[in-house]
Amino acid sequence: MLAANFLLPWVFAVAVTALPSHSVLYARDDSISSNDDPLVFDAAGFPDPMNLGQTLAGLQSFVSLHPVDLGVIKGPLSAALKAIGLSAVADDITTAANRLKLAAVIPRSGKQVEVNIDGCNKQLATVGPTSGSPDLGMALKNVSLGTCDGSNLTTGTVQLGSSDKRNFQFSVFNSPDSGFGVISDVDDTVKITNVLDKIEALKATLFEGPQPVAGMPQLYASLTKSLHNPAFFYISGSPFQLYPFLHDFIGTTYSASRGPIFLQNLTLIDIPALIDFTKVDGIQVYKDQMIDRIRGMYPHKKYLMIGDSTQRDPESYGDAFRKYGGDTISCIWIRLVDGANNTDARFAAAFQGVPQNRIQLYNDAQIPALQNVNVSGGRCTL
Ligand SMILES: *[C@@H]1O[C@H](CO)[C@@H](O)[C@H](O)[C@H]1NC(C)=O
Ligand SMILES: *[C@@H]1O[C@H](CO)[C@@H](O)[C@H](O)[C@H]1NC(C)=O
Ligand SMILES: *[C@@H]1O[C@H](CO)[C@@H](O)[C@H](O)[C@H]1NC(C)=O
Ligand SMILES: *[C@@H]1O[C@H](CO)[C@@H](O)[C@H](O)[C@H]1NC(C)=O
Ligand SMILES: *[C@@H]1O[C@H](CO)[C@@H](O)[C@H](O)[C@H]1NC(C)=O
Repeated sequence: MLAANFLLPWVFAVAVTALPSHSVLYARDDSISSNDDPLVFDAAGFPDPMNLGQTLAGLQSFVSLHPVDLGVIKGPLSAALKAIGLSAVADDITTAANRLKLAAVIPRSGKQVEVNIDGCNKQLATVGPTSGSPDLGMALKNVSLGTCDGSNLTTGTVQLGSSDKRNFQFSVFNSPDSGFGVISDVDDTVKITNVLDKIEALKATLFEGPQPVAGMPQLYASLTKSLHNPAFFYISGSPFQLYPFLHDFIGTTYSASRGPIFLQNLTLIDIPALIDFTKVDGIQVYKDQMIDRIRGMYPHKKYLMIGDSTQRDPESYGDAFRKYGGDTISCIWIRLVDGANNTDARFAAAFQGVPQNRIQLYNDAQIPALQNVNVSGGRCTL
């Protein structure tokens, strides 16, 4: 599930002390300059409920000061890792600092990001905070793309000043409000993180090349066929600072089943909230909210929910079933992870009110066989 929840707070707590005050850097000019790095997260494109035939996209942007000084996190990171008994060579620290780059940046508040969307007639859209609201560099907005050409994937490009030759792109995954959606967890569902072992999870998150759970890329690729190009949504409790790392991983290892990745908005200066997110309860509430957000965009899709037993996926998916019912939540698949609470009592509580034939708990040896479950034909189990 969410590796980074428990490890990021101290990393950020250390990093923040090394940073200059943000307030002096708040921009007066709200356009993107060469001093800014705009990140626009891959987004879901969905039918505009108010305008038939038009597409909306829930665009989220994060703007920070360019360039990034990785030096500010290397020292504290190395010391903090040593303190918990994880010795790291210089290369590991460089890898870790790169993965956590967004934890070292200085957010730029008040910026408006103009984007161009290929294949849609209303090409120019702006995402940014509404004036006067403190935003810590992060903004989320439904923007209208007008009429799009019907393709399921469109590319957005951030508009820059004429002398700025950099290129910042993102994807919009368009999907109709029908058919299937696959809502997937990340850590220990599609990627091996070992969240139950702090040292192993730190290594997997910060140093090592990310490894898929064996068989899952093939399973997800097969779902694109059996569910007729479903929309994939990845929800992780990890902070958005890990977005570049997770985005690369999903984009390469799950290239047939790409989709937007929803991560938590944890900010550098919001230490109490960061610490709060280490609580399992916070994770469940957050996941429930993201499921609501997806359902809000696509109220008529059916969903296959895939997660694991390490933290709160069963509870969260059970909540979704009880809230939206079996016509919306078709099936729930949960990977049984060794060392997690895999007791009957846990699943009985999590899935109260969910019919047994909607739930498949699976071990790793059963992953290939999941390809044969006829989910679109109404089945969920092996
Ligand atoms: C992230 O931040 C944006 C902008 O402040 C906000 O609108 C959005 O609801 C936040 N998302 C989550 C998951 O908290
Ligand atoms: C988009 O559609 C093409 C065929 O038109 C298909 O091959 C591809 O898998 C689809 N991608 C997604 C994410 O649905
Ligand atoms: C975006 O649109 C969806 C679907 O209409 C809605 O559920 C959601 O609340 C909207 N989000 C924002 C930030 O306006
Ligand atoms: C497993 O979960 C159940 C239900 O929440 C709980 O009663 C039990 O104490 C848990 N067992 C362990 C070993 O955590
Ligand atoms: C899945 O079930 C449906 C409905 O029963 C059926 O029409 C379809 O042929 C089945 N697909 C496969 C691959 O068995």
